[in-house]
Amino acid sequence: MTMQGNSVPASIWSNVEGIAYGGDYNPEQWPVNVRLEDLELMKEAGVTFLSVGIFSWALLEPSEGQYNFGWLDEVMDNLAAHGIKVALATATAAPPAWLVRRHPEILPVTADGSVLGPGSRRHYTPSSAVYRRYASGITRVIAERYKNHPALALWHVDNELGCHVSEFYGAEDAAAFRAWLERRYGSIDALNSAWGTAFWSQNYGSFEEILPPGVAPSTLNPGQQLDFQRFNSWALMDYYRELVAVLREVTPGIPATTNLMASSATKALDYFDWAKDLDVIANDHYLVAGDPERHIELAFSADLTRGIAGGDPWILMEHSTSAVNWQPRNQPKLPGEMLRNSLAHVARGADAVMFFQWRQSFAGSEKFHSAMVPHGGRDTRVWREVVGLGAALKRLAPVRGSRVESRVAIVFDYEAWWASEIDSKPSEDVRYLDLLRAFHRSLFLRGVSVDMVHPSAPLEAYDLVLVCTLYAVSDADASNIAAAASAGATVLVTYFSGIVDQNDHVRLGGYPGAFRDLLGIRVEEFHPLSAGSQLKLSDGGVSSIWSEHVHLAGAEAVQTFAEYPLEGVPSLTRHTAGSGTAWYLATFPDHDGIEALVDRLLAESGVAPAAAADAGVELVRRRADSGGSYLFAINHTRSHAAVEAVGIDLLTGSAFAGTVEAGSVAVIAED
Ligand code: GAL
Repeated sequence: MTMQGNSVPASIWSNVEGIAYGGDYNPEQWPVNVRLEDLELMKEAGVTFLSVGIFSWALLEPSEGQYNFGWLDEVMDNLAAHGIKVALATATAAPPAWLVRRHPEILPVTADGSVLGPGSRRHYTPSSAVYRRYASGITRVIAERYKNHPALALWHVDNELGCHVSEFYGAEDAAAFRAWLERRYGSIDALNSAWGTAFWSQNYGSFEEILPPGVAPSTLNPGQQLDFQRFNSWALMDYYRELVAVLREVTPGIPATTNLMASSATKALDYFDWAKDLDVIANDHYLVAGDPERHIELAFSADLTRGIAGGDPWILMEHSTSAVNWQPRNQPKLPGEMLRNSLAHVARGADAVMFFQWRQSFAGSEKFHSAMVPHGGRDTRVWREVVGLGAALKRLAPVRGSRVESRVAIVFDYEAWWASEIDSKPSEDVRYLDLLRAFHRSLFLRGVSVDMVHPSAPLEAYDLVLVCTLYAVSDADASNIAAAASAGATVLVTYFSGIVDQNDHVRLGGYPGAFRDLLGIRVEEFHPLSAGSQLKLSDGGVSSIWSEHVHLAGAEAVQTFAEYPLEGVPSLTRHTAGSGTAWYLATFPDHDGIEALVDRLLAESGVAPAAAADAGVELVRRRADSGGSYLFAINHTRSHAAVEAVGIDLLTGSAFAGTVEAGSVAVIAED
């Protein structure tokens, strides 16, 4: 594994064999006899890796400066004796009661001025100097105590930074926001110009006058809102960096990370930016029970995580063995679903499969959240599946370190997501993820792998590049995308892309300013559709959400709108760009329209599925540096499915016979 952003050796991967397996371990909730039984059960399940101490600050330091490490010493020693490696937490994700009582100013404040109190978790603001001092303090004490411990493999910094609260409006946050703005802009004139404050008399005379964008009579300044999003994402990472500085000092050879929540649901944090500071990418992922396409959302999130990891293998730090406790209706996973989920993450680049949590709690608000050891103990379906998964992962050891093969990229940018959904836009129905997910879904169902890449990422390796709703884009990133087409790729740009620059200033002269030349078109005016309405297209199809007045300026019209007032106006165009092509989609086609377009784009770019297979089989190929390849075939249906592949199924150890059983998985080491 390549380490990002620094030179710490990847010791987790040299210490843990094969695909790492385990979960969050919270032994502080249990008496010693249960902790001893845990060791036996972990052996039975094949556990190799655990996150320990995430929420244990109040037990480790019951009052200021008084420490109680006995139980954690015992746990660390026992895990080491059993060959289990540990991602040791900084214990900072839930400040102890004594700290809150002494320093209530550490508590987070919401936009309307409410103070979020203790009694739950994550009740601190990352810009609190006091909190940082205490958090660095406990981090140093833990690091000093365990720096030479044989179980220590990785630092688990805090937990899911930005979970529950990701925007901070207190006085200290406001001061940190102002300081951040001053560093970003240098002068108040530069800020006024970036925020366009000539509008509505919003001009500032000094940085001291600026507040976070809280509650106001009407829509707030979009530049201020966008910068506040950037600031909050940065502030959480800045807090991370402060803790990691302590860890580096005490344990320079131990890598550090924090668990991300990359998925279609996490918008507030710019994980492509965060990745620069993480030694290895770790992600938590939970299915939305009741969504019949939850396995496709899983694939989207796992592909996004791999993109954040720059294509390197990553750690699935948390998922669930069965039901969670925080959705309106917490349904269990179906038989075999946990194995399919786990191996889908591995297929998409995970080299570790971990759960929240090892043993299901009997008290507290997560007592009905599933775990590896359920309330019912060993004689349960979940436990049998946990043991089965451990055995399966052992057999997949050869896969570790290989990389997912993909010739298609979907450009993904958190800043474009934020900017495109700030208020006062042409249509509230334009949601950043909708087209991205529609194309990802279509490619998923065909067995075509997709890399999610930042718009600044190298694109040479891709034959097809999809640029969806990239509303805000820098000149450099727009050029990077245009260069991919010039070099021979097929590039698709969809509506509401390239409209503004990074300051959310419209690129004048006709939309989409950043991509007009590449696409050979000019858009005169937007015509968003009424809620739920549809528009006829020239090929007999229909579309929704968006239409616009497109003029050709070098491109050819492949399809046109077929309804007043835009009849005959192009809805889909194609332009030759260097040795490649640049397509433009000016509306949201229905299912058949998306499928027809994906057919054309794949045919033009020469991209084929990972293998031929029956419908309902998820297909992904990982390839090792040595050239060996592993085809993951995950059968999401309830009948047997044929897959054309030749090799040994690592999960059975036998030659693959061409069929994956209902609900089952094959991982074929190809000949
Ligand atoms: C995560 C969190 C865990 C646990 C889990 C339950 O967000 O990191 O501590 O709460 O959710 O699904």
